[in-house]
Amino acid sequence: MTTSTDLPAGSRPAVLDGLSEALHQVAPGRPARILTGDRPTGNLHVGHYFGSLRNRVALQDAGAALMVVIADYQVITDREDVGPLRQRVLSLVADYLACGIDPDSAVIFPHSAVPELNQLMLPFLSLVSDAELRRSPTVRSELLDSGRPLSALLLTYPVHQAADILFCRADLVPVGRDQLPHLEVSRTIARRFNDRYGALFTEPTALLSEVPLLLGTDGRKMSKSRGNTIALGDSEDATAAAIRAALTDSERHISYQPDRRPGVSALLEMGAQCLATDPVTLAADIGDGGAGRLKKVVTAALNEQLRPIRMRRKDLLGAPDLLIGVLIAGIAAAGDMARATLAAVRTAMQMDYLG
Ligand code: TRP
Repeated sequence: MTTSTDLPAGSRPAVLDGLSEALHQVAPGRPARILTGDRPTGNLHVGHYFGSLRNRVALQDAGAALMVVIADYQVITDREDVGPLRQRVLSLVADYLACGIDPDSAVIFPHSAVPELNQLMLPFLSLVSDAELRRSPTVRSELLDSGRPLSALLLTYPVHQAADILFCRADLVPVGRDQLPHLEVSRTIARRFNDRYGALFTEPTALLSEVPLLLGTDGRKMSKSRGNTIALGDSEDATAAAIRAALTDSERHISYQPDRRPGVSALLEMGAQCLATDPVTLAADIGDGGAGRLKKVVTAALNEQLRPIRMRRKDLLGAPDLLIGVLIAGIAAAGDMARATLAAVRTAMQMDYLG
């Protein structure tokens, strides 16, 4: 059985070689520091798993020092209510560990619990203009989706995200395409700080995830807020039901044509990810089996892939003290780094005038 940390047989060495190379390039002679993060707004889904979690584990296994920020302050960028935060944060940590993130080496922490990280936002805000922030396509689309007036936090949260990234001097930030504008803001802030106050920060490098965007079961982008996802924690029956309900079309012959047949193609993508094949080959395998056969194959593949993860997730959720212990250790480690960085920033800005 395939375990969570296994990349598809055959592609594993090649993928890891690629990663080791990338890690070596950004941090020759030392372990590269990777920072990634998630908002605790709901349960992680298979899009997160194939697009991001699997990569994090591969990076960790290739020798990187992994930092994972739980971006709890970012929850209130586009809504008023933080929701059931404790439960969502614990569920995130369970998802991380169940997928293979090693709590003994990774630093997993909620950023609200690290005051010195948050304090970095203040000098950073002085290094970007409001016009630059207003141009961010990511902020613009989140603003539209929120259906609310632009809050000062939504406008400036890319600067807060720069604090997430720069406080720990991250070398590499694995991101999806939508996060690239934020990484540019972080790079700009690092560069401008160095120009103004002397070289302190390295500009973080984006590592674009190779995995294509997974579509939700309605053929649109998979998103927690649209309710079209399959969560890592869903039962096998719920997974089967979601896939059964997925939008397809009435053409019997299955083919991979993302533009013309988004529903069928999304299922092929998902199946291909699980079966370590590509969507065109999978489509040819199913051929005239139609949408019914396609859904059966994808359901079985996904449930099989997720089974060990779901079992571990369930065990972990039954041990909240363990999950909280992981967070407390992560907050301590992140706090040490944030205090050191803030002290260096204040010295560079000559704010250590009291001695
Ligand atoms: N903005 C990211 C998201 O919505 C989450 C996040 C917060 C993040 N801080 C980060 C991602 C730092 C990468 C690096 O998914």
